[in-house]
Amino acid sequence: MDTTAKIYEDLDRILVTREEIRQAVEKLGRQITEDYQGKDLVMVCILKGASLFFTDLIREVDLPLSTEFMAVSSYGSGTSSTGVVRILKDLDRNIENRHVLIVEDIVDSGKTLYYLMQVLSQRHPASISIAALLDKPARRVVDLTTRYSCFNIPDAFVVGYGLDYDEKYRNLPDIGVLHPRIYQADDA
Ligand code: IMP
Repeated sequence: MDTTAKIYEDLDRILVTREEIRQAVEKLGRQITEDYQGKDLVMVCILKGASLFFTDLIREVDLPLSTEFMAVSSYGSGTSSTGVVRILKDLDRNIENRHVLIVEDIVDSGKTLYYLMQVLSQRHPASISIAALLDKPARRVVDLTTRYSCFNIPDAFVVGYGLDYDEKYRNLPDIGVLHPRIYQADDA
C-alpha cells in the first residue's frame, strides 16, 4: 500500500520511510556479515514487534546463521512501559557457546532488553549483542549498550513496520507517529 491508504490517516506524521528502512537494513546486514564471519551466529527475533525487521534483515546477512524466536510482554495496551517483563515463548534451542544477536524493534526505557540480556547471558553464549531498529535515547532508564541501531528517534509513540498500538498498525510499511487522538479516544 502507499501513503495515501486510509490507515495512514491515523498518523500524525511519517518518521521513517520504507525506503530509509530498506537502506538501513541493507547496510546493517552487510555490517553483521562482516562482524560475524566464521562465527556460529544465532539471530533471535523478539516477537511480535521485530518480526518485519527480522525477516528483512536476515535476508541481507550472507552467513549460514540460525534463527530463533522469543516472545515477551512488556506493555499492556498502553503507551508506556510497566517494567514487568514476562517470557511468553522461550528459545527452542540451546545457545551455549554460540554468538547471539537479539533483534528488537525499539529500545525505549531499555527495561525489556536489560532483562532479556540477563536471562540469556545466564545460558553461557559465546557473545550476546543487540540489534535494534529504533532507539529513543531520551527515554532510557537502565544502562544498556546496543551494538547496532538503525535510527535514533524522538520521544514519541510510533507504529508501523512491526510496531503496534494495541496490536494494530503493524502492517504499515512506513514508521509514523500515531495521532494522539487514537489513544486519547481509548483512554476516555
Ligand atoms: P522498553 O522496555 O521500555 O525499552 O520497551 C520496549 C518495548 O516496548 C518494545 O519492544 C516495544 O514493543 C514497546 N515500545 C516502546 N516504545 C514503543 C513505541 O513508540 N511504539 C510501539 N511500541 C513501543
